[in-house]
Amino acid sequence: MSALPSTVADADAYHRRYYSDTFRFGQGTEQILDLLTRIPPVASWTDLGSGSESLLWACALRAVRLTAVDADPARLTRLAADAHAGNPRDVHRIALALAGTAPTTEVFATRTRSLHTTLIADLFTPRSPTPPALDRALGADLVTQFGLLGLTTTPAHFLHAFARLHARLPVGGWAAGANWVPADPEGRVTLTQALYRHTAHRSGLDLLHLAALSSADPDFPLVWTYLARRHS
Ligand SMILES: C[S@@+](CC[C@H](N)C(=O)[O-])C[C@H]1O[C@@H](n2cnc3c(N)ncnc32)[C@H](O)[C@@H]1O
Repeated sequence: MSALPSTVADADAYHRRYYSDTFRFGQGTEQILDLLTRIPPVASWTDLGSGSESLLWACALRAVRLTAVDADPARLTRLAADAHAGNPRDVHRIALALAGTAPTTEVFATRTRSLHTTLIADLFTPRSPTPPALDRALGADLVTQFGLLGLTTTPAHFLHAFARLHARLPVGGWAAGANWVPADPEGRVTLTQALYRHTAHRSGLDLLHLAALSSADPDFPLVWTYLARRHS
């Protein structure tokens, strides 16, 4: 694998810090969940750079079949184990409640059952041709990324990665996500409203929502959220 922009911590440390038990209010998560509830039910959903966290976002989505894609097999193994266990932690119960759904084990189990495939792929290093499984995954009705594209290093890197990863989104398909801005921006893209707007336009997407929210996490004091839809 090429030298990749790195995420904040390894699989276990990241999970413990952000998603272990308690719901961390004030860090943008509740707004992201609220945004996701605006997406209608979809047959297929692909979460890019999913880590082990897709089940949190699944609490607000109604998707039949989820494909989780990540470069780190350890995170995907944890995700698959959590989906298999089907036991909601407090963080999931609160997420379900915030999304307007009964926070029960049964409801959580229906969300976890949507995990259909996990796919190990380096999403920042294009392979030509795109492996068929990834090509199919990118053609889902909904493509999300939470924290992946914020790891890009320059505006051009962000634009090209976003456009490539959404090129297979069908007409009418949805794109949603969030990117956290580190307090120390060294080596990370500077995200701006203009960059998001330009990127959405170049990707053939209508930007339906774009917001920069302040967060109580001192290491990541800002989070950008977006919702978009392919028009052509
Ligand atoms: C900030 S974490 C976000 C995890 C998760 N989406 C969430 O909601 O918390 C970024 C994720 O992107 C993954 N990642 C980093 N570089 C990647 C690459 N080149 N291709 C695929 N996944 C990558 C990491 O393994 C990690 O799971």
